[in-house]
Amino acid sequence: MPTGRLSVVVTRRLPEAVETRMKELFNVRLRDDDTPMTREELVDAVRQADVLVPTLTDDIDAGLLGQAGPQLKLIANYGAGVDHIDVSTARQRGILVSNTPGVLTDDTADMTMALILAVTRRIPEGLAVMQSHDWQGWSPTALLGGRVGGRRLGILGMGRIGQAVARRARAFGMQIHYHNRNPLREEIEDELEATYWESLDQMVARMDVISINCPHTPSTFHLMNARRLKLMKPEAVIVNTSRGEVIDENALTRMLRAGEIAGAGLDVYERGHSINPRLRELKNVVLLPHMGSATREGRMEMGEKVIINIKTFHDGHRPPDQVVPSML
Ligand code: DGY
Repeated sequence: MPTGRLSVVVTRRLPEAVETRMKELFNVRLRDDDTPMTREELVDAVRQADVLVPTLTDDIDAGLLGQAGPQLKLIANYGAGVDHIDVSTARQRGILVSNTPGVLTDDTADMTMALILAVTRRIPEGLAVMQSHDWQGWSPTALLGGRVGGRRLGILGMGRIGQAVARRARAFGMQIHYHNRNPLREEIEDELEATYWESLDQMVARMDVISINCPHTPSTFHLMNARRLKLMKPEAVIVNTSRGEVIDENALTRMLRAGEIAGAGLDVYERGHSINPRLRELKNVVLLPHMGSATREGRMEMGEKVIINIKTFHDGHRPPDQVVPSML
């Protein structure tokens, strides 16, 4: 690591205050327009930078890391998910990886609840009626949804965000169930009144709402595959604010169209922003453009975390949010 100012390359536009602070602290190269870097631009970045600050829209794979210059020592990701970074190859090449956990927990959990409510209470359909200027007034039978209170919520992935979803859902009167690699500590389970299911299949078959809150890793890819989606009750709904790859999107689309699953609320998609076009046509589906963590406060705090990770590393210490392959 150089002892002078670090050369930092940021791949996307960040909030202005974050960029200003970075300019004060580092020799930073910022992005002019809000588009992802091309592959050539990324190659140039890893050849020049001591520290790369990418986002989830950059593919930091083994091929790219193979072209990095010897000066690249830290990839300080602006975001919590690191499934776009080959963390093992980075480690083999002596490049540390850090992320920004914690600061987007509440915002993402809020959005999960928003999707659960939007799907079960048919909010987008109500909005469409109002925007059509065709509302004929209140009716005892119009736009009937299902009551959220009393429903069984099955959370797949009970880390920070899963637990934050559970807290909110409890307040709405939902019953909390979860599947995770390991059960929670007893006191947390008690606080959340949460039931652990070792068998994901058994949990999926009994829930009214499934919420995906696990990261995307090789072992969670298509965890909700066609076989498992078929286990869901036909009146159940599924929401995903984590990563699209956890659900087989084509299988989900087929089953939603066939009425084998009652509804879905999706903030993330299997192939980035290239969405199965049939999903867009369905009334029982609420689609959002990956905005689960999109609050001004959250984006500022993500920037602060990136800066702390870089500064701590430059001072000769382990970045507080270092990601190691065994965590994945
Ligand atoms: C993350 O940080 O990984 C989130 O998905 C961004 O919303």
